Amino acid sequence: MKFTKIVVAALAVGLTGAAMGQVVGKAEDQIRWRQSAYQTMAWNMTRIKANVEGTYNKDQVVQAANVIQAIATSGMGALFQPDTNAGKGWRETNVKPEFFKPESKDELGKIAGAYIKEAKEMASVAANGDAAAVKAQFGKLGESCKACHDKFRKEEKK
Ligand code: HEC
Repeated sequence: MKFTKIVVAALAVGLTGAAMGQVVGKAEDQIRWRQSAYQTMAWNMTRIKANVEGTYNKDQVVQAANVIQAIATSGMGALFQPDTNAGKGWRETNVKPEFFKPESKDELGKIAGAYIKEAKEMASVAANGDAAAVKAQFGKLGESCKACHDKFRKEEKK
């Protein structure tokens, strides 16, 4: 149990070990890339929402869910190196200092692990389920985004 937790945390945050591969990008690049990745997820969440609220188009929902799954499983935890706790990408970062604290590691691992699980499930439900199932899974996935934002992201600066 404990071992599983540590592995999940390491995968989710992606900061440890040769298995995670090379760290690339300067701090400002990493911030820019992660902001872009999150915006790309927001685009695709919005597409899924439009489909469950309007006329349902399975192909579009599959496209959108696959993008979210790909980003969730991309290892983008590597874009949170310690020197990215402050600074500017496309704009001032909204990451909270708590994200980088060793005592947050377990909770961050749990939150990130849950989001990765829901993103994979979203792709599977998009491929195999009906609009009602997609709507339900969309709710769960959205909650998993919010769980991290509530804890680890500052209020949006306008
Ligand atoms: C593991 C934590 C975590 C999860 C899970 C997460 N986010 Fe975020 N999100 C953040 C952090 C941290 C930032 C701030 C990034 C920065 O400014 O450096 C952010 C920023 C954003 C932004 C603003 C990007 C910008 O332009 O600055 C959007 C939009 C967003 N997230 C959408 C989502 C969506 C949609 C999901 C779920 C599909 C999601 N996030 C899941 C942590 C998370």
